[in-house]
Amino acid sequence: MDSLDTTSISASELAARIDPSTLRDRSDGPLYLGIADELRRLIESGEVAAQTRLPAERALSISLDVSRVTVASAYRHLRDSGWISAQRGSGTYVSPTGSLPSWGSLAGDRDAATLELVNASPSASPLLADAYAIAAERVRGRFDAGGYAPLGLLELREAIAAYYRGRGVPTTAENILVTAGATDAIHAVLATFTEPGARVLVEHPTYPGVVELTHSLGGRCIPVPVDPDDTEGFVAAADRAARQSAPTLAYFMPDFSNPSGARLPLHTRRQLSATMHRHSVLTIVDEVAADLSLDGSPDLEPFGAATPDIATVTIGSTSKTVWGGLRVGWVRAEAGRLAHVAATYARRQLSVSILDQLAAVELMGKYDEVRRVRADLSRATRDHTVALMRDHLPDWHFRVPDGGLSLWCSLPDGIRSSALVAEAHSRGLLLAPGLRFGTGYAFDDHQRIPFTRSLPEISSAVEILARLSSAGTPTPSIASNRPAAVV
Ligand SMILES: Cc1ncc(COP(=O)(O)O)c(C=O)c1O
Repeated sequence: MDSLDTTSISASELAARIDPSTLRDRSDGPLYLGIADELRRLIESGEVAAQTRLPAERALSISLDVSRVTVASAYRHLRDSGWISAQRGSGTYVSPTGSLPSWGSLAGDRDAATLELVNASPSASPLLADAYAIAAERVRGRFDAGGYAPLGLLELREAIAAYYRGRGVPTTAENILVTAGATDAIHAVLATFTEPGARVLVEHPTYPGVVELTHSLGGRCIPVPVDPDDTEGFVAAADRAARQSAPTLAYFMPDFSNPSGARLPLHTRRQLSATMHRHSVLTIVDEVAADLSLDGSPDLEPFGAATPDIATVTIGSTSKTVWGGLRVGWVRAEAGRLAHVAATYARRQLSVSILDQLAAVELMGKYDEVRRVRADLSRATRDHTVALMRDHLPDWHFRVPDGGLSLWCSLPDGIRSSALVAEAHSRGLLLAPGLRFGTGYAFDDHQRIPFTRSLPEISSAVEILARLSSAGTPTPSIASNRPAAVV
């Protein structure tokens, strides 16, 4: 197994995650089964991610204060049921969740007949065509120069800085790096600050791109369960995880989190930001959805505004308010930190398209209108989707989000997202499997439904899902080596 593609968990860290009372109170069977049950719980919930290298038997037995034979039996039990596997000469690993394609490639090459609900990416803002027309005129004035703008065009960086000042965050162009979408921004920030073995706190469920990227950089995601109706609980859980796992980074989406839709109220976001700072954790704040309030709920103080500027790095993008095809995103950070991120990015990319940047300057100049237009369109598609789902899929449960671009649905008993997605695919509907939003085996009982396509397309998609649901979609999971019987 490629060592860059895996992370490991130490014996002491794993032992700290095992609930001793579960083992102590176990009167109905041998101790090794109790340990196996606890390990399975950690794997199932995603707390110990797929492909993680587990500690050696001897080390874990010392940390748990049990005999080596007990740990060996627990590992054997989990191996027999497929949860973990031994790699000759290199240790024991949590089994992979099947061979999944990368997140970015899930929507794939699709033909016109395919309904794509993998990405939560809306069609272009009606304001985009004019912005491109103006940019096409203005770009001529730049033809004599070389065409690279390593940090981004100064006028765009100034426009983005003005946007932050408008939100109450003192910012100049010195704090802004323009990137090709938030994807590049996240990549540059994580690549700058993720040391091999680094722990990164993430909401659970979270944005799949980040789990994949952290893993590929040799870091490990520590999931913190998020419940939109209990944001206080989220802060407490993040505090606990920071004490237990000593992370150096956190990646949070405080406004209309993707996919849960959670939004942290003012006091909770202040508390979380201060808590992370106290633990010396640098928080990466993904605000890609921050301007997607749909029901007029007021903007909240940006995450980190009340903590020192050095404590957070913020990511933004025009992909959701305008269009994913306009590849303009950015990083906002304290100038010293930003210089490190810019150096990382320069190794990967010389410049973002000048035409795209000029169009973005136009759109940032009328950003209130951009937001209002997007909110009107998304509110209509959300309401349409909600009404259809309630009619046709009454036993799918979801909370109606007041922002963002998708519904996060819990599936009825017996329906697995992985099986549903495979069936839907064969009927021309592409969806992202629920477990892509977790760090391992979690969320196969959830399905994200973006409300980003046209009303007729959404109607067709719900119709397909309703047919599959009523036909009793088979339940086996796509996690091909996930055991059918649990220990
Ligand atoms: C939370 C979040 N961050 C980042 C991205 C990537 O955005 P971009 O298209 O700007 O690269 C997305 C896109 O779905 C997203 O939902």
